[in-house]
Amino acid sequence: MSFPDVRLRRLRRTQAMRDMIREVRLHPSNLMYPVFVDENACAPIPIESMPGYSRLPIQSVVDEVRRAIEQDVRAVLLFGIPSMKDEKGSAAYAADGVVQKVVQRLRKEFGDEIVVATDVCLCEYTTHGHCGVLKNGEVANDLTLKILQKIAVSHAQAGADVVAPSSMMDGQVQAIREALDDAGFSQVGIMAYSAKYASCFYGPFRDAAECAPKFGDRRGYQMDCGNAREALREIALDINEGADIVMVKPALAYLDIISQAKARFNVPIAAYNVSGEYAMVKAAAKMGYVDEKAAALEILMAIKRAGADLIITYFAKDVKSWMNP
Ligand code: PBG
Repeated sequence: MSFPDVRLRRLRRTQAMRDMIREVRLHPSNLMYPVFVDENACAPIPIESMPGYSRLPIQSVVDEVRRAIEQDVRAVLLFGIPSMKDEKGSAAYAADGVVQKVVQRLRKEFGDEIVVATDVCLCEYTTHGHCGVLKNGEVANDLTLKILQKIAVSHAQAGADVVAPSSMMDGQVQAIREALDDAGFSQVGIMAYSAKYASCFYGPFRDAAECAPKFGDRRGYQMDCGNAREALREIALDINEGADIVMVKPALAYLDIISQAKARFNVPIAAYNVSGEYAMVKAAAKMGYVDEKAAALEILMAIKRAGADLIITYFAKDVKSWMNP
């Protein structure tokens, strides 16, 4: 059968018809809201390269998360900016560290109403800004694993539901799974930043989290943008090591990776719609070149259509009102 018997426009005539046959839908409950908490801040500090986003003082986080819940968002991903950095990032696993304090407050305030996930990495906590500890000027994989274990356990002790290792060390999921289980936290999940590419789209985040490397770059541990099969290998390894959720990051320039991961694996796939992707939409909208709401919704829909089950996005709080004006 072909034209004129087949006319695809028949099912595009009305909004009700289009809604009826829509394959993919966005809902705020599939979104995760990233929150930056600054231990030194007394008031929210706007992030210049991420319009509308701020680094929050510890005491503002509960209110901000309440606003997200009002917009039907049910998950947050916490990043900490500590008051003290050192070579080893020891503030990252302090029992009274910035993230640990915030997790406790959120747990107390909201109970099981939200999923509290925490980024497990060293770059915000080290003086050199790398995602692991250094030995002879290089990021030392296995030494870093020991620290990641301590961070993950300290987050679990504070009450995190999910820890999200993002340093791209080999074996990080296995190391964290073992440490969590040994410490009695077998119920705490791992969302692995599995296919995390070395990307220019993290630029605004690095301003926000003060975590740009002081020398060199992250290409010795994050993935090369030209590789797809390697991403599938990273994901397969992480699943084998016990990851409950695997992530592709960034999202927009890596939709092919999301789509292949979805076709191949049966675990939930997360995609991180990163800071530079957010900043691009904001900047173009400010210039009047695109409509912010339409652009953001189309991008999120594309990420979901590619195969993401959940999306980490700085737009999370806006989606509900954009969809139901
Ligand atoms: C920490 C981390 C980064 C992001 C999330 N976790 C920065 C980096 O790897 O340089 C980026 C998030 C974003 O750009 O929105 N390792």
